[in-house]
Amino acid sequence: MPISGPVLGLEASCDETAAAILAPDGTVLAEAVRSQLAEHTPFGGVVPEIAARAHLAHLPALTEKVLAEAGVRPHELGGIAATSGPGLIGGLIVGATFGKGMAIAHGLPFVAVNHLEGHALTARLPGLVEGGAKFPYLLLLLSGGHCQCVAVEGLGQYRRLGSTLDDAVGEAFDKSAKLMGLPWPGGPALEKLAQTGDPKRFPLPRPMLGRAGCDFSFSGLKTAVAQTIPKLQTEQDRADLAAAFQYVVAAVLADRAKNALAMMDGPTAMVVAGGVAANKAVRASLADVAAKHGLPLVAPPIRLCTDNAVMIAWAGIERLRAGLSDPLDHAPRPRWPLAELSA
Ligand code: KG4
Ligand code: ZN
Repeated sequence: MPISGPVLGLEASCDETAAAILAPDGTVLAEAVRSQLAEHTPFGGVVPEIAARAHLAHLPALTEKVLAEAGVRPHELGGIAATSGPGLIGGLIVGATFGKGMAIAHGLPFVAVNHLEGHALTARLPGLVEGGAKFPYLLLLLSGGHCQCVAVEGLGQYRRLGSTLDDAVGEAFDKSAKLMGLPWPGGPALEKLAQTGDPKRFPLPRPMLGRAGCDFSFSGLKTAVAQTIPKLQTEQDRADLAAAFQYVVAAVLADRAKNALAMMDGPTAMVVAGGVAANKAVRASLADVAAKHGLPLVAPPIRLCTDNAVMIAWAGIERLRAGLSDPLDHAPRPRWPLAELSA
């Protein structure tokens, strides 16, 4: 179905407040993200109540900013797409209610976007892959809260092939980094430290490597890191442990991705999303697996891998194009598995 104007995307499911406006063809007209790193750093992790209040404080101004930048007035929009789950309930309520309010005020269709569908469909944004990634493709969602292999078979058609049995991969980076005395969020700090380390110095376990399927497990690895820490004396020792951890994670992810591809029928690409997709060792290791299968590795620019509103607006556009929108009494869902979606 044709969309009557640009679509506003709103994201407030975790610790990024974001707004974006996309033309109906997917061209990004304006985008803004406000990270809550400063609010949560003193606590060493995301505090849900603080997150919800910060979303409430900043979402209106961010929305005004992207509208002004895009040169679009609210009544000229063709729809509002707001993350409505999964995520922290306080932020979801803020974002979804704000979006519904605008939809009512301006008589616009409202799309309650599943955040994971946003990540899943990013590879289809025009400009990333010629003509957008074609279904089906493998999505590796590697963030602080999610760790899954998903077969993206169509709009609203997602098959979870495997997921973590304990910690998400980003969580494993964060917890191991914390054990090593690095600042939160640990992933980028650990990657930096690993640059000068020897990945073979400390042999760490490789959880799930060689097992059937594509589930993940990282809690044993974290324990092994904790047990190695008393042995560390020099800065070089710390770098070696960071390198060993990163090496093992990259190897395990590659092994799981290989099995996930084998569980699919004719995948066209391997797509990565989530903050951990920023890690160069992880990217290289996944690119290697994809190449062995003759597939491209689609790694969107970091700003589109981490939480953002461009992907939410784009998921809204895909749904509006298919004639789909949601009622204004749609309730935000803190848990909302991809497999429950349809189109
Ligand atoms: O997708 P994201 O921004 O937020 C959600 O979790 O939804 O991912 C954040 C996670 C954190 O755990 C962070 O430590 C990790 O991604 N991360 C990294 C890197 N950059 C971010 N992990 C490893 N290497 C990195 N360069
Ligand atoms: Zn996310």
